[in-house]
Amino acid sequence: QETIHNEIEKILVSEEEIQKKCKELGAILTEEYEGKFPLAIGVLKGALPFMSDILRHTEIHLEMDFMDVSSYDGGTSSTGEVKILKDLNTKVEGRDLIIVEDIIDSGLTLNYLVDLFKYRKANSIKIVTLLDKPAGRTADIKADLIGFEVPDEFVVGYGLDYAEKYRNLSYIGVLKPEIYGG
Ligand code: PRP
Ligand code: MN
Ligand code: MG
Repeated sequence: QETIHNEIEKILVSEEEIQKKCKELGAILTEEYEGKFPLAIGVLKGALPFMSDILRHTEIHLEMDFMDVSSYDGGTSSTGEVKILKDLNTKVEGRDLIIVEDIIDSGLTLNYLVDLFKYRKANSIKIVTLLDKPAGRTADIKADLIGFEVPDEFVVGYGLDYAEKYRNLSYIGVLKPEIYGG
């Protein structure tokens, strides 16, 4: 059968590995925010599956909100320009923020968001990312919690897209070369 899985060259992080990591990270957040009421901010659209899975494994009161920011315009490299497509509905002043991301590549998206939330007077800001691609970094930004480090390849799946596709894969993979730029 011809499914989207046939367009994947290799799997970098399996569904099982991702789910196990979400449990571990959720338990860490439970410990770190015990007795607090943090605001978890998912960065749309890529963070959606990870946000859902990691927060399911927390056992504290928390609030969720979403920010839609885009810097890639569908291609494989950052345009360097961050656009707010949807802002938060929640005030961040005095709040303990947990920013949830699918990947940190150049770091421009998070650099922009951290500056914005500092300006809005957040009490504390933590970054949780499923994937970290240190080779892509141009901005000086580091996550507090990282699921997996990935090599300098364009990865898709579990929220990460290529031209808006492949977000629905349950694993992280690399596409066959003929798919890119086609
Ligand atoms: C991707 C990804 C991160 C960001 C990482 O989002 O989901 O948010 O880029 O790249 P950076 O560290 O170089 O800024 P994108 O802008 O493609 O939007 P999307 O989540 O809707 O796909
Ligand atoms: Mn994103
Ligand atoms: Mg994208």
